[in-house]
Amino acid sequence: MTEPSSRETVTEPLLEARDLVTGYGGVAAVHQLNLHVKPGEIVGLLGANGAGKTTTLMALCGEVAPISGEVRFLGSANRMSLAQRARQGLSLVTEERSVFMGLTTAENLRLGRGDAELALEIFPLLREHLQRKAGLLSGGQQQVLTLARALASKPRVLLADELSLGLAPIIVQQLFEAIRREVDERGVGVVLVEQHVRSALQIADRIYILQRGRCVLEGTAVEMRGRLDEIEATYLAGPVDAEV
Ligand SMILES: Nc1ncnc2c1ncn2[C@@H]1O[C@H](COP(=O)(O)OP(=O)(O)OP(=O)(O)O)[C@@H](O)[C@H]1O
Ligand SMILES: [Mg+2]
Repeated sequence: MTEPSSRETVTEPLLEARDLVTGYGGVAAVHQLNLHVKPGEIVGLLGANGAGKTTTLMALCGEVAPISGEVRFLGSANRMSLAQRARQGLSLVTEERSVFMGLTTAENLRLGRGDAELALEIFPLLREHLQRKAGLLSGGQQQVLTLARALASKPRVLLADELSLGLAPIIVQQLFEAIRREVDERGVGVVLVEQHVRSALQIADRIYILQRGRCVLEGTAVEMRGRLDEIEATYLAGPVDAEV
């Protein structure tokens, strides 16, 4: 491939899985996955419990190795650890809220990779809680703090696992709006794991649906919106139903 001009680079994927097979102890949990995220887009990764969403995210960030196929980050297929990818602009928000519970909000923000003041610009509501220990914040506020730290590092790619899980719709709205702003204003590329197609469609531009480790459907949010009931019944039923 020839070196792309800087203009063309803009449309190249930031992060990509090509024929990716990955799993644990040599046993595949994800099969032949092709997925990409470009600058300025939000990609939703959906599937029932056990479908392979977290495994995919772990492979994309470098925590779980491919069995075959590859993960390309910023055009390179070199194997990189999460720490190496983080230094090059990948930010990961896991299912567990990654805040230091014994430290205050302000201390958590200072310990982040990013600028604490920027975190407060993204989420001004955190200003009220600066001196509070993170462990004493509500679940929603902890998730806001987690995302604030992630976005304040000005990532090129944000991977987030079940960001909205257990949160009130109003908090989810705030988290999604902040992500959308960063995507539109800075061209961040986002892969968002969600269990529910309806919540994913509040924010995603494109969607991939996994079933038992395989991508069974992909398309734009516009296409998916017209097929909501079918998608929920066919692809997002629980793992027991999916076995039938
Ligand atoms: N650390 C692990 N070791 C072995 N197998 C695992 C491990 N983590 C997950 N798996 C298996 O890999 C498969 C995919 O799991 P994964 O956690 O990726 O699903 P998921 O879509 O994120 O599910 P959930 O919605 O419940 O979070 C499952 O069969 C699971 O049992
Ligand atoms: Mg998961």
